[in-house]
Amino acid sequence: MRRRVVIGNWKMHGSRESISELLATIDSSCLDPAIEIAVCPTSLHIAEVVEQLSKSSKNSRIAVGAQNVCDAESGAFTGEVSAQMLAEFGVRYVLVGHSERRELYGESDQLVAAKTAATISSGLTPVVCVGETLAQRQEGKTEFVVLRQLNAVVQQIGIEGIEKCIVAYEPVWAIGTGETASPAQAQEVHAALRNRLQQLDAALAETTPILYGGSVKASNAADLFAQPDIDGGLVGGASLKAEEFNAICASA
Ligand code: 13P
Repeated sequence: MRRRVVIGNWKMHGSRESISELLATIDSSCLDPAIEIAVCPTSLHIAEVVEQLSKSSKNSRIAVGAQNVCDAESGAFTGEVSAQMLAEFGVRYVLVGHSERRELYGESDQLVAAKTAATISSGLTPVVCVGETLAQRQEGKTEFVVLRQLNAVVQQIGIEGIEKCIVAYEPVWAIGTGETASPAQAQEVHAALRNRLQQLDAALAETTPILYGGSVKASNAADLFAQPDIDGGLVGGASLKAEEFNAICASA
């Protein structure tokens, strides 16, 4: 059975106080210990979140992820944070290629691939995000776009690298819009991604978790996660509400 993973992407939300409250209200103590759970605060909040979780009686199993990373190891890169620094602060996962980074900050497939490689070099798990825009979907280019994004990463890190990754399918039109891909729509793209992994290596296809992201909520998580190729979720808005996040994790 493939790993089950739920990751909350807090984006640029929260204050020290609201985050502390959120962590105190999340309760992962009753969940199957085999399910991997992580939250991704801003870089600034990472250290405090790691500390609070490590001391929590009910949430010490929740890992911390970063929302971004520099592709370089160190040097004159003003404003950037390296994978090694994230590792030193207790981070376990790194989101790479989120559509907001691709669209708003002009990250290319090649840069995303380089960030994935840097993440792996520091012993962290990249969560490689892929997804099409509404226009691309309407033009029938969904599969072409997500496979192009995945292939760029494969080209850079090879099969041995992909073994260390989690893939996340996040249709851009479903992010923060309240409009979720239907379980069938999501499953279709997940199957195409898994099929690509299968072409590379059968074992890889069997073991790589592929998460769905885009308006995942407590009310739709179970139906999405019941699809054969959906192994969990990358959750934005709903991960900022403890009750929603608890329920989504339970659905996994
Ligand atoms: P929403 O769940 O708010 O749609 O965001 C999804 C997302 O971008 C997670 O990375």
